[in-house]
Amino acid sequence: MKLGAIALPNTLFVAPMAGVTDRPFRQLCKRLGAGYAVSEMVTSKRELWNSLKTSRRADHAGEVEPIAVQIAGVDPAQMAEAALYNIDRGAQVIDINMGCPAKKVCNVWAGSALMQDEPLALRIVEAVVAACAPRGVPVTLKMRTGWCAAEKNALRLARAAESAGIALLTVHGRTREQGYKGQAEYDTVAAVKAALGIPVVANGDIDSPQKARQVLEHTRADALMIGRAAQGRPWIFREVAHFLATGELLAPPTVREVRGWLLEHLQDHYGLYGEYSGVRSARKHIGWAVRALPGGEDFRARMNLIESCEQQLLAVGDWFDELAQHHERLPLAANDERLELTA
Ligand SMILES: Cc1cc2nc3c(=O)[nH]c(=O)nc-3n(C[C@H](O)[C@H](O)[C@H](O)COP(=O)(O)O)c2cc1C
Repeated sequence: MKLGAIALPNTLFVAPMAGVTDRPFRQLCKRLGAGYAVSEMVTSKRELWNSLKTSRRADHAGEVEPIAVQIAGVDPAQMAEAALYNIDRGAQVIDINMGCPAKKVCNVWAGSALMQDEPLALRIVEAVVAACAPRGVPVTLKMRTGWCAAEKNALRLARAAESAGIALLTVHGRTREQGYKGQAEYDTVAAVKAALGIPVVANGDIDSPQKARQVLEHTRADALMIGRAAQGRPWIFREVAHFLATGELLAPPTVREVRGWLLEHLQDHYGLYGEYSGVRSARKHIGWAVRALPGGEDFRARMNLIESCEQQLLAVGDWFDELAQHHERLPLAANDERLELTA
C-alpha cells in the first residue's frame, strides 16, 4: 500500500492516542508488527508550540519512517500553518483530527466536533492540502461515522474530502455522540470504502486477530487501525499480521520477550520525559502490561509508589523474572480485562 510516494510495510496502523502513542510507544508497535503509526495530536495553536508537551510531540528523533503527525484545530489558516511547522520538523504525512471525541480538543471545538460543521471541515481540509501539496506531503483525515445517530454524515464528508485531495481516510465506527460507548459499527465504514477511490482504514474495537479478519471482510477496508487493544499488548500487530497471512494464531509471546520489550520501552520513555515525568507517565504502560497477568493488580498498586527510574526498572524486571519461573509464555488471568476496551 502506498501513501503518496511512501510505500508502507504493511496495512496495520497504530491509532493516534493522546497521552499514549508518543514516540517510544510508536517505535515499540512498529518493531512488533505495525506498519504505520500516527502521532498524538499536535495543537494548531502557535502559542502552544513551544510548550514542553507540544515540543515533545513534535520530536521525531530516530523515529522509524514514515513519520505521520496528526494536527488538531478549527481555523483553516492555523491548521495549514501547523502542517508546515510539523513538516519542517520531520512530518512526512499530515493527518487531520476529526475523530477525537474529547469535549474540547485543545480548548476549541475541534476533533470530531468538526463533523457538525461540514463547510468548515472542508475549508480545513482544503487549506491543509494546499499547504502540503507543494512540499509533496500527503494529507490524511481521521473521522467518525458522524455527529450523532441521526446525523451520520461520514459518507458525504468523505466524498468531499476525497475531492479536496486527501490521500487516505480512517473511519472509527462510532459517532461523536457515542464517545467510546456502545459498539463500533462497520456498515458505515463499508459504505465509505465502497464509495471512495483512495485507501480507507477501518478503526474501532479491533482487539484480536479474529476480529481483525472479521472487520476486514465486512468493510473491505484497505487497512486496519488499532488503538486501545495495543495498550500493554503492542505485539497484537504481529499477532494480527500472522493470522491474516496464515490463518493460524501465533502463540503468546514468552514472558522473557515481554520483559525485554517493556524494559526497553521504559528506557526509551525515560529518555523522552526525564526522570520525574518519565516514572509517573510510565506507570500506565506498566499497568496495562501487567493488568491481565496473575498478580498483576497487586504489582500495579506497589509499582505506583515507586518514584525513581532505577527502582521502577528493577521492580518490573524482578516481577517478570518471578513470573518467568512459573510460565514460559504469557499467561492471562481468568478475568482477562483486555477484552474490555476502556478509554
Ligand atoms: C486515550 C485515547 C486518546 C485518543 N486520542 C486521540 C487523538 O489524539 N486523535 C484521534 O484522532 N483519536 C484519538 N483517540 C481515538 C483513537 O485513535 C481510536 O479512534 C479509538 O480509540 C477507537 O479505536 P480502538 O477501539 O482500536 O481503540 C484516542 C483514544 C484514546 C483511548
